[in-house]
Amino acid sequence: MTDRPLAAIVLAAGQGKRMRLPGPKVLAPSCGRALVEHVLEALRPLRPRETVIVHGHGGDAVREALRSGDYRFAHQAEQKGTGHAVQCALPALDEGAGDILVLCGDTPLLTTEVLQALLDNHRSSGRALTVLSAALASPGSLGRVLRGPGGTLERIIEARDATRDQLAIREINTGVIVADRGLLAEALTRVRPDNKQGEYYLTDVPALLLADGAGVDAYRTDDEGSALGVNTPVELAEATRLLRRRLREHHLRGGVRMEDAETTVVDAGAEIGEGTRLAPHTFLARDVRVGAACEIGPFCHLGPGAVLGAQVTLGARVEVRRSTVDPRVTVEGPARVVGASIGREAHLGPGVVCEGTGRIVVGERARIGAGSILRGPVTVAEGARVAAGTILGPSEGRPPREPASTQERGASHHDA
Ligand code: UD1
Ligand code: MG
Repeated sequence: MTDRPLAAIVLAAGQGKRMRLPGPKVLAPSCGRALVEHVLEALRPLRPRETVIVHGHGGDAVREALRSGDYRFAHQAEQKGTGHAVQCALPALDEGAGDILVLCGDTPLLTTEVLQALLDNHRSSGRALTVLSAALASPGSLGRVLRGPGGTLERIIEARDATRDQLAIREINTGVIVADRGLLAEALTRVRPDNKQGEYYLTDVPALLLADGAGVDAYRTDDEGSALGVNTPVELAEATRLLRRRLREHHLRGGVRMEDAETTVVDAGAEIGEGTRLAPHTFLARDVRVGAACEIGPFCHLGPGAVLGAQVTLGARVEVRRSTVDPRVTVEGPARVVGASIGREAHLGPGVVCEGTGRIVVGERARIGAGSILRGPVTVAEGARVAAGTILGPSEGRPPREPASTQERGASHHDA
């Protein structure tokens, strides 16, 4: 039972009108990743044999954003509902039996643990279909789980189609279901758009299968936080707040110290070594890497491509992007290090600016005096001393400071 082949379908074709964004909702960013990327990250450890992403609204935007992953794509030209979206995905799967796990691209808080628990429950029960549900204090616009006298699921009713009594039910459909592939495909052909939205609802499938006598139920997770679906800007802000907290806790448990965790912002995928101290108002972008026992901040901005070795010290208001900073380097703030490789134990004084079109290399143990400007391409030799206020690189001879102060100013998050 446990090794039934698993395929996954991620629904990401909707526009998400309530978000009022120009592009597809599932690409809205949260903690450095698109909403749908969080879902795919949670799914990955389950190793589905195939993952099909259904895209539609916004043309190829979703496909483009996810093209580096090992995914298949199915196009849903017209968004006729979640049931129709699953139907569009089925032809993209290889032939064969097994289970299909259907996820929505707008539930970024789902965790691998919750998905695994759903799968385990589904497989050990031998059911045809299992819905992942959760009990929420404010179930809002989510679909409600209706249970019969025996306590098992009878049907899912969408909030828009529900009566007042049904709306009082707090158990909701998280949007995740796992079902036998053949039975799901067959039941989908019988779904009718006879609801307020005139859509083909995936959520009508459980009742159809039950009527056939198949085993169907809802598995309720205790992790209500994982159920939040993002449909509005307010929900996006709330999901981001919860994701931030989860990411922070992950790093704190890993031995990272945060003086003021509330103002320390760490995007998904950033790696931070043990014993590193992040002072208040410090930001680490997605996929930034920081070694162990560093001292960072306050008010530091580590943007994309920042890689710091162990025991690096960054003072107040240091910005680092697209740069490698080797172990035991000290950068006194404020400073700006963009497109540079800084060798071990080098020292950058306050007010140093490294930026320009070519690579900047600062050799090991070099000392760059306060207020110096290094414009790439330029190399400072190992152990060299650069006097305060020096301008190095192709900008020499031009009016001092002018190139450095205008370039990339627009992209800067603070005026280091
Ligand atoms: C859906 C469920 C609801 C559940 C909620 C959980 C249905 C009918 N309702 O409602 O029971 O509580 O999710 O968050 O399934 N999509 C497509 N093609 C479409 C329509 C939607 O790909 O034609 C995608 C959307 O991009 C989105 C997901 O499916 O990622 C869910 O669609 P959405 O419109 O957000 O459904 P909800 O109203 O949230
Ligand atoms: Mg939704």
